[in-house]
Amino acid sequence: MRFIPMLAAVAAVLPYTTAFYKGVNVGAKNPDGSCKTQAQWTTAFNKLKALPGYFTSVRVFAASDCNTLALAVPAAISTGTQLLVGVWTEDGTHFGNEKAALQAAITAHGSDWILAISVGSEDLYRGDTDANTLAQQIYDVRGMVRAMGVTQQVGHVDTWTAWVNGTNTAVIKACDFIGTDGYPYWQGTAIANAATTFWDSVNAVRNVVNTVSPGKWVWVTETGWPVSGPNHGNAVPSVANAQTYWRAVACAAFNQVHIFWYAYEDYNDSPSFGVFGSNGNAIYDLRAC
Ligand SMILES: *[C@@H]1O[C@H](CO)[C@@H](O)[C@H](O)[C@H]1NC(C)=O
Repeated sequence: MRFIPMLAAVAAVLPYTTAFYKGVNVGAKNPDGSCKTQAQWTTAFNKLKALPGYFTSVRVFAASDCNTLALAVPAAISTGTQLLVGVWTEDGTHFGNEKAALQAAITAHGSDWILAISVGSEDLYRGDTDANTLAQQIYDVRGMVRAMGVTQQVGHVDTWTAWVNGTNTAVIKACDFIGTDGYPYWQGTAIANAATTFWDSVNAVRNVVNTVSPGKWVWVTETGWPVSGPNHGNAVPSVANAQTYWRAVACAAFNQVHIFWYAYEDYNDSPSFGVFGSNGNAIYDLRAC
């Protein structure tokens, strides 16, 4: 409960609502491929917190890879950051290591640092598993953390196209929350139509979830627009378009949905979605609107 006084203080001084999570996806690897150290996790969390939007919610993709939780949880606690934790589901050995890393982090640090837990990421989109197998893994992880007294929501992250596919309803039923990833860029959408395309994807997922498991919340776990890289259909990466997409999508989203922007830093990738460039500065203006 150590975060409550801080959130209350922020709500008292800021004019906008803090009812929805404003998060950012942070990879465990640096742009050169090395694993982040604890100091580099701390730097990342402090930089996100220092942005005008005051980002203290972060999604991490895995628990054991790069020793993510062993290094990121102390950094999160010291900076007042909370984590949407990923637990990788593939393959069996890896899944076991992921569960063990989550269990170890809870044993060492309690659970105040946990925003929520996502079992798997885009597994259905990749066709790497089937809905029933994944649903069982979600029940498995929920059972493990509930036995440790952890009450935070346990769900799954996948592309909006996977959520609206009727073969995957077992996963919706298994989730406490539904994390949807939507990228108008990958849909080849011109920037002028990008916000409409994005909200269409979110609402399509909401409609399916409301039919299958009424009342469950849909979270936006990834969206963003590339600052550089190849065109994709009518979608053109540029800093100006990333800024336009932020103003059009993030500003509206903060008032109505939990959202995790993609991504913190990936300047060696193409397309590159990262908001921090190689000079360490934010590439565009991420104010809270
Ligand atoms: C739905 O998912 C199934 C199983 O992965 C796949 O075979 C099928 O093509 C998908 N349907 C659509 C419309 O994408």
